[in-house]
Amino acid sequence: MCGIMGYTGTLPAVPIIIKGLEGLEYRGYDSAGLGVIKAGEISVYKTQGSPEKLWNTVPENLISSVGVGHTRWATHGAPTAQNAHPHLSPDGLFTVVHNGIIENFAALKSELEEQGYIFNSETDTEVVAYLLEKEYKGDVKSAITNVLTRLEGSYALGILCNDYPDTIFCAKYSSPLFVSLESDGGYIASDVSVLPKNAGKIYKIGDKEIGILSKDELKVFDIDGCRIRKTEIKVRDIKNLEGKGEYAHYMLKEIYEQPQAVEDTLESIIVNSRIKLNTLRLTKEKIKRINRIEFIACGSAYHAGAVGAYIAQKLMGIPCEAYIASEYRYSNPVPDENTLAVIISQSGETADTLAALREAKRHNAKIVSIINAPLSTIAQESDSVILTKAGKEVAVATTKAFSAQLVVIYALCTRLAYSSGKINKARYSELIEQMKNLPEKIREILKNDREYKALADELKDINYTCFIGRGVDYCAAMEGALKLKEVSYTHCEAYAAGELKHGTISLIEQGTPVVAVAAQSSVSQKTVSNIRECKARGAKIICIGNENSFTPDADDKMLLIPQTEDLFKTSLTVIPMQLIAYYTALNKGCSIDKPKNLAKSVTVE
Ligand code: G6P
Repeated sequence: MCGIMGYTGTLPAVPIIIKGLEGLEYRGYDSAGLGVIKAGEISVYKTQGSPEKLWNTVPENLISSVGVGHTRWATHGAPTAQNAHPHLSPDGLFTVVHNGIIENFAALKSELEEQGYIFNSETDTEVVAYLLEKEYKGDVKSAITNVLTRLEGSYALGILCNDYPDTIFCAKYSSPLFVSLESDGGYIASDVSVLPKNAGKIYKIGDKEIGILSKDELKVFDIDGCRIRKTEIKVRDIKNLEGKGEYAHYMLKEIYEQPQAVEDTLESIIVNSRIKLNTLRLTKEKIKRINRIEFIACGSAYHAGAVGAYIAQKLMGIPCEAYIASEYRYSNPVPDENTLAVIISQSGETADTLAALREAKRHNAKIVSIINAPLSTIAQESDSVILTKAGKEVAVATTKAFSAQLVVIYALCTRLAYSSGKINKARYSELIEQMKNLPEKIREILKNDREYKALADELKDINYTCFIGRGVDYCAAMEGALKLKEVSYTHCEAYAAGELKHGTISLIEQGTPVVAVAAQSSVSQKTVSNIRECKARGAKIICIGNENSFTPDADDKMLLIPQTEDLFKTSLTVIPMQLIAYYTALNKGCSIDKPKNLAKSVTVE
């Protein structure tokens, strides 16, 4: 992962770079650094922790108008200042920031060490700086070209060379990199959201392209040295970040933005009570030929995919499965031209998800992606893209993007089932009506905020929590458990309710909280039997469901959600669990928006 920001122009570079890095913290925030050139000399500043700490590290009187910076999520070597980027070549001529993983770095490092080079960090990146020094004979472009031919893995690189003190060199493979040309200079960044919103032009650097950026020009070359004419990209839908407002944390703000995110998303795909997926490039004939649907994603997006698999299989009556993207590629998958691969990703840049997309494509599957970032690599490589309208999500733990993904999945499954004749018009209309009512029902649940806060107060000293559910309730349980562990560092796990008795029940003892999602009327009574098994062993039950799901004892807690279509229950059951996770983390004094060891956009395998 990691974020890159660079600037060359007429303004002081340091504030531009640090502010840019602050906007890229979702890519990692364990250490940061920047390098600037002044009078042909490089100065490098690094710190452990997030980019804002760079303000204290850089001397106030440092004025330079060219530099590159980096915010890191450690992959090779601990998150120390020493391992923070930029990394320098031994002669100090080259400065390199890198996002990605150089997979063959160990071999390259040994080769360089045999030649007498001594390394200063544990990172994979340092080999790039050293190789640049070795390959440099006065022409930076050829040096970079030669170095790229040696690299395996993924990279977005920002490079300074003291011999060209007004220029930023860049190159990328697999990791994203954007360039913007403005009246005050040239910018590079891992994400368009941190580029200036002036009238300038934005370009996306392509794989194995080399960019040479000065304050008023960008020249791009392919790996054979031929000049490429880049087309400006149109940037829409990048809402300016408005800050946390009245909320203590972005996570809480984003939880509260969910009714709007769901409403905006639904409004973009349901018109006059019909599902209009204008970007879905599938004819009715092709839809009818689909005989298998694979939902592929990571993290919370995988949980949304798991919901999709249940719904699609129920509505379509064909085999539908959810895959963890990092497993997909290595599981000898068997999609074919009649398979629909639904790729789900908030960022659209998750490396494992992208690799799985490419694998499904290699087998000729039709690719539909559900994405929150329209300019992302996954969006570009998909046959069809359906956008979620969650707006920018800042907290690492996703909430509103997940909720927006769910409703796109509902609409997609409903539309596919209707177009292939698997459901009739009445069922189609009924499902659409239920979808349209979801934002209001989420609003209703949010009104119970105090109840969830009180429950979190009771849970604050707990160190193990178990989540159970069946069907889509199980998917919700997985998401609830993930939320609690990622923000409050409470050990917890989600279990298919019927599977608990095959092992995990041994962990239940007096007072162990069991969060049981029992909202789906078709299976809630089965889950209640599993609740009873837990109660018999001393568990404290927190049940999320409807009035008739479960009758709680005095020690238990029943969290009621409004009624809706069984298949769409996750949209409602997940909300109390998000708030419980939030308030538990608050009670424990955790770093809620930036939990330890995590990053929002995971661009390494
Ligand atoms: C990280 C984030 C999760 C997210 C997952 C997949 O782990 O912390 O919130 O669900 O990546 O990210 P994506 O951008 O592909 O949805």
